[in-house]
Amino acid sequence: MSNFVKAASLREVKPGTGLQVHVQGKDIAIFNVDGTIYATDDRCSHADAPLSDGEIEGCEVECPLHGARFDLRTGENLTPPAWEPVQTYEVKLDGDEIYIAT
Ligand code: FES
Repeated sequence: MSNFVKAASLREVKPGTGLQVHVQGKDIAIFNVDGTIYATDDRCSHADAPLSDGEIEGCEVECPLHGARFDLRTGENLTPPAWEPVQTYEVKLDGDEIYIAT
């Protein structure tokens, strides 16, 4: 069974932006896509750049270092130079609070 942990408040991550949080020893990126929250590992599968600093377009994020794109819903790598997906996490909202399943 998933263990949900409070990760941030909704007001900390404005629509169209990402935020790095630390949850149980992991760096996790939280993204706000028009009010829907997604969470992935905050480490690009290519060379470890923080995806929370990337540009969001639709449900995709572009890595700030070399431009690989990932689907925020699934973590799937969509373009090179990333050849591996990134892990995603289940998200739950409770009022203004964002919880992530670890
Ligand atoms: S570190 Fe992300 S594409 Fe290279």
